[in-house]
Parts: sequence; structure tokens; C-alpha cells
Amino acid sequence: MPPRTQTSLVTGASAGIGLAFARALAARGDDLVLVARDRGRLDLVAADLRSAYGGNVRTVAADLATDAGTEQVTDVLRGQPIDLLVNNAGHGTRTSFLDTALADEDSSLDLMVRAPMRLCHAALPGMLDRGRGAVLNVASVAAFLPRGTYGAHKAWLVSFSRWLAVSSRSRGVQVMVLCPGFVRTEFHQRMGADMSGVPRWMWLESDRVVGDALADLGRGVTVSIPSRRYRLLTRLARLAPSAVAERASRQGR
Ligand SMILES: NC(=O)c1ccc[n+]([C@@H]2O[C@H](COP(=O)([O-])OP(=O)(O)OC[C@H]3O[C@@H](n4cnc5c(N)ncnc54)[C@H](OP(=O)(O)O)[C@@H]3O)[C@@H](O)[C@H]2O)c1
Repeated sequence: MPPRTQTSLVTGASAGIGLAFARALAARGDDLVLVARDRGRLDLVAADLRSAYGGNVRTVAADLATDAGTEQVTDVLRGQPIDLLVNNAGHGTRTSFLDTALADEDSSLDLMVRAPMRLCHAALPGMLDRGRGAVLNVASVAAFLPRGTYGAHKAWLVSFSRWLAVSSRSRGVQVMVLCPGFVRTEFHQRMGADMSGVPRWMWLESDRVVGDALADLGRGVTVSIPSRRYRLLTRLARLAPSAVAERASRQGR
């Protein structure tokens, strides 16, 4: 019997880390379901991937900060077997907490907490019944430092993923949370943030982040922190929590 083709669903697949996931998964032979808001851009990505790697690439234009958009994606997850769910869509906010409109804070919470929670709730029953599958949630090293609501959302995702990993492993389903540092994508430009002060050594490339993440997933890692430098920084933050946390929060929100 020929090997079974995997199907992976990636949110935020039209740019940055999500696009790098889509490319890497298409290159290894997966069929794909790609999710983002901008339908035109998503369809261009899908056409490029089909012509480069073959395989089925389906697009779902959906806003994951809304109930209707999230339901479009949970319908897909309940309607067809998905082998790998990559919860990646996210954004940052430039203004501090009290300067951000509450509606924008709600929207960030919906996109980075409620949507991955709902997508996991839709995808996991099928995976657990089949006894195989994986979920890869994209958080951030910001999860380990007090960095406003963004860091808090990502901390929620780390905690949730660690618990899901423990509770799903014995039934053949793997859950991993990816915690990158600064990655060169559209993320900071979309926020309108000036990143000129960030030293070059702190920047990661999305293709490398994704390659390392998929290797960690293959090794059964639960919390994946790409690059030795960020693993070290994260360990230091844990060892000297108050000093590092105070410093980070002074620069943060
Ligand atoms: N870049 C970094 O330094 C960095 C570091 C750590 C963690 N992360 C995390 O990595 C993930 C990906 O970020 P990135 O850097 O790749 O950002 P990016 O280049 O700005 O790409 C974001 C992707 O998410 C989609 N998206 C945004 N809002 C959405 C919504 N409401 N509904 C559906 N899709 C939406 C965007 O497409 P549309 O605009 O068409 O919807 C795009 O495909 C995020 O969760 C982010 O928090 C990034």
C-alpha cells in the first residue's frame, strides 16, 4: 500500500512563520488547508505551493478573531481528518495596555487564546479516536516574561499546551508549543514598531525556526525554543526571575 498522505492545517499561513510552515509541510508531501483573512494572498500562496510541490492545497479565508471565522475552521477540523494542526495566526499591539482600546484587546485575546483553544477542541477528538495526530501551537519567548497582554496570552498557550501534551500523549497524539524569539516576518512592521534597536544576533529566520520546530516535533519535544541563544536567555530568565522580569516589564506594556 502506498504511504498515506498527511493533511496539515496551518493558520496564519499567508506570511511569516505560517508561510514557512506551509512551505516546509508541502515540501515533505503533506496536503494542506491554509487559513488567513486575505483570500487573494492566500490563493496566491496556494497556487505557488501546488506548482512547486504538487498535492492538494485548500484555502479558507477566515478571521480567527471572530466567532464566525473560527467556526469556519472548526467545521473543517470536524469534517475531515487533519493530522497536524498548526495554531500560528497572531499579532502584536504597539500601544500599552491602558492606551489600547478594549475592543482591540478583546480581539487579540480572541485571536491568540480563544481561537487556538477552540481549534484544539475541534481537532483533538478525531485525532484521539484515530490514535494519531499532532497539534503545534505557536507561542513566544514573551510567554516567560511579563510583556503585557501579549505575553500573558502566550503564557496561557504554553500552559494549556503542556497540559494537553501530557493528557494526549498516551493516546498517540502529540502536542508541542513553539516559543520563538524575534523572527524576521511582517509581525513588527504590521504593529508599526521600530525594531532598529534590536541587535542582529537576536533575529531568527522563519525557515530555520520552522525546520527546527518540525525536528523537535519529530523528537517528541513539548516546549520548543528555537536556537541555543534563546534557550539560554529563557533559562536565565527562569533562574533570575525578579531582576529579569522587572527589567523586561519596564520596557514592556
Ligand atoms: N515574528 C516574531 O518575532 C514572533 C516571535 C514570537 C512569536 N511569534 C508568533 O508567531 C506567529 C506568527 O507571526 P508572524 O511573525 O509570522 O506574523 P506575520 O508575518 O505578521 O503573519 C501573521 C499571519 O497571521 C495571519 N493573521 C493575522 N491576523 C489574523 C486573523 N485575525 N485571522 C486569521 N489570520 C490572521 C496573517 O494573514 P492575514 O493578515 O491575511 O489574516 C498572516 O498570515 C504569531 O502567533 C506570533 O505571535 C512571532
